[in-house]
Amino acid sequence: MCGIAGYVGSGLAQPVLLGGLKRLEYRGYDSAGVAELTGMELAVTKAVGRISELEKRLTESGATIGIAHTRWATHGVPSEPNAHPHVAGKLALVHNGIIENYRSIRDVLARRGVTFTSDTDTEVLAQLVNTEVDRKKREGVDRPLAEGVRAALREVRGTFGIVVLSADYPGMLVAARRGSPLVIGYGDGEHLVASDTSALLGRTRRVVYLEDDEMAEITADDVRLETLDAQPVKRKATKISGKLDDVQKQGYAHFMLKEIYEQPEVLHDAIRGRLRPDTGTAKLGGVNLTDDELRDIDQVVLIGCGTALYAGQVAAYWLEKLARVPATAVVASEWRYRNPIVSERTLCVALSQSGETADTLAAIREAKAKGARTIGVINVIGSTIAREVADGGTYIHAGPEIGVASSKAFTNMLGVLLLLALQIGRVRNLSEAAGAAIAKAAAELPEIMASQLKHRDEVAAAAKRYHGTRDALYLGRGLTYPMALEGALKLKEISYVHAEAYPAGEMKHGPIALVDPKLLAVVLAPQNALYEKTKSNLEEIRAREGSVLTVTTEGNRDLDGLADAVLEVPKVHEVLEPFVLAIPLQLFAYEMAVTRGTDVDMPRNLAKSVTVE
Ligand code: F6R
Repeated sequence: MCGIAGYVGSGLAQPVLLGGLKRLEYRGYDSAGVAELTGMELAVTKAVGRISELEKRLTESGATIGIAHTRWATHGVPSEPNAHPHVAGKLALVHNGIIENYRSIRDVLARRGVTFTSDTDTEVLAQLVNTEVDRKKREGVDRPLAEGVRAALREVRGTFGIVVLSADYPGMLVAARRGSPLVIGYGDGEHLVASDTSALLGRTRRVVYLEDDEMAEITADDVRLETLDAQPVKRKATKISGKLDDVQKQGYAHFMLKEIYEQPEVLHDAIRGRLRPDTGTAKLGGVNLTDDELRDIDQVVLIGCGTALYAGQVAAYWLEKLARVPATAVVASEWRYRNPIVSERTLCVALSQSGETADTLAAIREAKAKGARTIGVINVIGSTIAREVADGGTYIHAGPEIGVASSKAFTNMLGVLLLLALQIGRVRNLSEAAGAAIAKAAAELPEIMASQLKHRDEVAAAAKRYHGTRDALYLGRGLTYPMALEGALKLKEISYVHAEAYPAGEMKHGPIALVDPKLLAVVLAPQNALYEKTKSNLEEIRAREGSVLTVTTEGNRDLDGLADAVLEVPKVHEVLEPFVLAIPLQLFAYEMAVTRGTDVDMPRNLAKSVTVE
């Protein structure tokens, strides 16, 4: 979603800020802006659309301090007045998050004669901060900018990551957070601040994460950390990993394609050293539960949104099959509001690539408050969920995922969840032989997936054939049903083709009414225990002249007369089918998007990290 970059130092601010914004582009945005301070002169430049539009409007100002922002509209349409930074008096402010009580604050300020030029909650916050900073100045307090920010934030409800710059206090940025991440980068005679570490790459690796209800006064030489209650905070800088290469396309047409092709390598990284093929188990370091505690679990709740939720649905099958523990995957935004039933014997698993998804974060907090054991399965190191889920957590090590539609983070999340199912399974019901068969087969997955990626042309040919499709119905059974959901999500997200998914057995209870020659049915039918059942459903579609693209096991000729097009996947252990299905489903969505000319990496209306409810 929105992105923040800030700089103070002896170098030129503008290139650092624009470089930072570009590395945050992947989060999704619809407008962008920069505020720079040259001497005591505050200059704000904004543009709707891409950062390149903003760049066209900027000339080098010589400023060595500035703040910048990419906005994803929540309150008010994408427009220049609504874009950040927002100016109030002599200060400029950028904000991620939502100020829930902005209307009442706006009314109070309006009665005092403040006028507003935008529809946003952020402008209200900027005006409130400005009022409080002026008040602190009149009162003659020390550090009026920081004290004014602190006083203003006492008035607001909601979430914020903010950075403030003022012409009255040159050489200083004030940052604060509650619920929206901010990280401070420590350079040589300079400091940076950003909503995401990728904005800092190439400039510094030493960082300090702000925690909720903390603020920072940042100058070129110093960072003063304290809580919003004015308690000093001491925190050592940590080193971030990640390479600039991770946030560059390296010859691929799109980040998403690069990330699809990275899957064998990153899956290998995620399972290497954790999988124990000989004993059929796994050891996830961050899962701080003893074998006795794992045996004691009486239900597992997997919490996520979108793709992460579907990874959770696959894992629920695995946990029930391998560990014989009741497991359910739940939609974070629903579960958190239904007064969930959990106990100290419930294991709640927060699934999130970004580690910042507002609904998942709120749901895991709810689980914790109710006494459940909580762990996180997260990609972004140091993200809020990763740091907050105290009982433990494990990283999926997919590396930065820039394409808005998730690919490698999905398969790596599956990889780690499989390890979790093996680890829990082996201390409960799973025999060593059964565990070892799965673990050995899992170790071979990276190589198998790499071989699948050589068949992109076949998928591209199928996409060419179906590029005019308006509606698609994905069908799967058992473990392939969540993969049908994921396949349909990928297609709709990046190609804008309407797609939905059903358990194949449910088709005749309603969706079959949709079947006609214009409907594309994508039937996931690998040759597994449920194959014959799925084949019957496929025949039902065929009998009604629906067009069928099927994904089945290599060498299976049984469906030749029943499907218009066939994509093949290698034969693997039945439990591992989701991994090999992911590749053709992702590539099909990708190729459909390319043939339809959509913006693959930044699909309309979507954001990479959804930090609002
Ligand atoms: C789809 C996609 C989204 C995310 C969802 C949760 O391709 O990426 O559905 O999976 O927004 O995001 P995280 O995993 O960051 O919590």
